[in-house]
Amino acid sequence: MRLSLNWFTIRFLMIALLLCATHTSGAADREVSRLFKDNCAGCHGDQMQGGQAKTLLDGVWKHGGDDASLENVIRNGVEANGMPPWKGMLNEGEIHSLVVYIREKVTEAKRKQTTYAKPVSDQIVTSEEHKFRARTVVDGLSTPWSVAFLPDGRMLIPELPGNLHIFDKGNLQTPPVQGLPKFRTIGQGGLMEAIPHPGYQTNGWLYLVFSDGATNAAGENVGMTAVVRGRIRDGQWVDEQTIFKAPLSTYRSTAVHFGSRLVFDNSGHIFFGIGERGMGADAQDLTRPNGKIHRLFEDGRIPSDNPFVGRSNAIPSIWCFGNRNPQGLARHPVTGDIWESEHGPRGGDELNWIRKGLNYGWPLITLGMNYDGTPMGKGTAGEGLEQPVTHWTPSIAVCGINFYTGDKFPNWRNNLFVTSLAQEEYRRLVIDDHKVVHQELLFRGIGRIRQTATGPDGYLYIVLNKPDKVVRLEPVE
Ligand code: HEC
Repeated sequence: MRLSLNWFTIRFLMIALLLCATHTSGAADREVSRLFKDNCAGCHGDQMQGGQAKTLLDGVWKHGGDDASLENVIRNGVEANGMPPWKGMLNEGEIHSLVVYIREKVTEAKRKQTTYAKPVSDQIVTSEEHKFRARTVVDGLSTPWSVAFLPDGRMLIPELPGNLHIFDKGNLQTPPVQGLPKFRTIGQGGLMEAIPHPGYQTNGWLYLVFSDGATNAAGENVGMTAVVRGRIRDGQWVDEQTIFKAPLSTYRSTAVHFGSRLVFDNSGHIFFGIGERGMGADAQDLTRPNGKIHRLFEDGRIPSDNPFVGRSNAIPSIWCFGNRNPQGLARHPVTGDIWESEHGPRGGDELNWIRKGLNYGWPLITLGMNYDGTPMGKGTAGEGLEQPVTHWTPSIAVCGINFYTGDKFPNWRNNLFVTSLAQEEYRRLVIDDHKVVHQELLFRGIGRIRQTATGPDGYLYIVLNKPDKVVRLEPVE
């Protein structure tokens, strides 16, 4: 086809130009690597390695290294020293995306130059407080999602595809538990957690968190995170009771962001998280269960002091909202506070202190950006929207968390252990008065870390995906 410059093409070109022009000054949707190339690379180098102006990769910042300082330099420039101001040319979302992008590159460069501890095949890791090694306890698993312990030391290992294994004195019991409910195993959904009640010894209750499937009125296959409890008798799942199932009308067909993780407090409640299922706006909608942390009595009844009880059409189990994908939930052993880790978009993985009725901001605000490098939401902060206690930008793909309560690593007691999938990191956080006062990267690169737990034997257990296994950290004298 030949392109002739008739009135139509001219009009088309004019509209296209107009659209580009309005986008530049208005809508925040320019991709960040492009922005850097077009506006910054000329002075700071294609790869940020430096050129006419300094490298941005060394992590050394003359004008301050926090987000606000970096944004300020980009926005207002340092004209006396040759750094032009970008306000007017770049919008605030784009300026923030550039900071996320710079952090990605700085971290990448640092990772290339650093040799990280790798506790495999009897390598001993010397960390700040303890020397340890990792020993494989169970392998040959298929996508294990968590680990929990019965009072007699037996280990429960749910696998996402639907098996619940019991590991007893060095052996996986066969067959796995029979007669479990039906799970919707799709994408990130399936059987996610099996958690014994704190009074298991006397009541035998075991709680399962899983993705429940159904066919909705439109005939679509849909699902939502659900909770049941039951008992195991002679290897069979029996006495099942539904603890939480959302109204069928709220089920979603998507295959991502199921959340899960369930914790008990010591006054008869359970807390559990449901991810937003890839439907960001749902996280702000109180008539939907996804993108929330929920609170119920252990038997599924709604506590009358839940924050949205009585609000018309609100799901009454909601405890807080605006949570993207809560893949970690833990109760502080001393204060009883509930902590949550939340897998963010590109950047902006969060650690939150979970409190009644609060809005944690997703998808209105985030410290990250869209996966495609465009800005997202309406910025990094907003009125009535909680900031995380800390965040990981670039993302580590944060997953399960656990406060260590054992006696094998005395200097780690009550520290928060944080896992990561994509970056395969295992981190130790010291928390004081709701702040992270110290953080240590203990190791990285032995597999995607799904969850971590303190064993009754005092060891720290770690659930790995790829390779699919459970390892434990043991102290070395
Ligand atoms: C005309 C050259 C030039 C361009 C184009 C330019 N910079 Fe700079 N930039 C500089 C110079 C020179 C400095 C050092 C300023 C100083 O020493 O105070 C600097 C400093 C910075 C700093 C602060 C470093 C510190 O140590 O605190 C950041 C961040 C930065 N630039 C980011 C960017 C980004 C992002 C862009 C593109 C939007 C960009 N720059 C475009 C020249 C440039």
